Amino acid sequence: MLRMADISRERCRTGIEGLDHILNGGIPRGNTVLITGSCGTGKTTLSLEFLVHGALWGERSMYISVTEAPEKLVENMINYEFFDKKLITEKKLILVDLQEIYVKLGLEKLEFTLEDVNILVSQIVKMVKELGVRRLVIDSITSICYRLTSKEQIREFILHLGKELSDLGCTTLLVSELLPSSPGYSQYGVEEAIADGIILLGNMERRGDLLRTLQVIKMRGTTHSRAKYVLDLTSIGVLLAPMLKGGSVEVR
Ligand SMILES: Nc1ncnc2c1ncn2[C@@H]1O[C@H](COP(=O)(O)OP(=O)(O)O)[C@@H](O)[C@H]1O
Ligand SMILES: [Mg+2]
Repeated sequence: MLRMADISRERCRTGIEGLDHILNGGIPRGNTVLITGSCGTGKTTLSLEFLVHGALWGERSMYISVTEAPEKLVENMINYEFFDKKLITEKKLILVDLQEIYVKLGLEKLEFTLEDVNILVSQIVKMVKELGVRRLVIDSITSICYRLTSKEQIREFILHLGKELSDLGCTTLLVSELLPSSPGYSQYGVEEAIADGIILLGNMERRGDLLRTLQVIKMRGTTHSRAKYVLDLTSIGVLLAPMLKGGSVEVR
């Protein structure tokens, strides 16, 4: 049975069938969702697939990359059966190097002031508005938060960004990098409290195998399963299967 929360909000289908199923149709449009997990858990891969599906369906998609050069990302995407290079040449999928934005805005510094943060948010919002971006990924938000000097600033930054993007109807994934041993769902503990949703990716050892896992911790605007799923990265995209119980040890 669908509850009120499920029918009242328009959905942004991720195109990852298993995930859309877990979310009862997709991410409520305009949500800001944290994709969190340690290194190698599949955050970048899942986020890119979300954008590629959107672009194929005619929703302009933008990937703001902090840690990896856009050219390298394209190389990785070529492995996908559903990827078409035309998405990039026709600017349906736009790859942006944050380093270049920093240079343009004079933000090549280790620590940002509140003013710097506001300049950065304005620039991102401006690009989204002018280009009509419907899906945005920032990979990673952690590397931006690293330049902020207090939890208060991080809170302000994510709240401000999330509000502006939501008003534009842009659905956003913020990639969050966790240290393998860190408690909670985000590096600074603030990000997880503010985000509309949290999708946790992890590793789990099972009878000598290291499995990738996915769990939706929260998602405002929809009911969803909170069960843990096994995540498989394949050439046809992310596949999710229910986790069989027993014999597993969690390793983040
Ligand atoms: N289509 C695929 N099939 C198999 N393995 C993949 C595929 N795409 C990515 N991988 C592997 O998955 C790993 C994790 O990917 P990535 O998304 O970069 O993780 P994260 O962003 O969480 O660090 C990488 O080691 C990569 O080689
Ligand atoms: Mg990554």
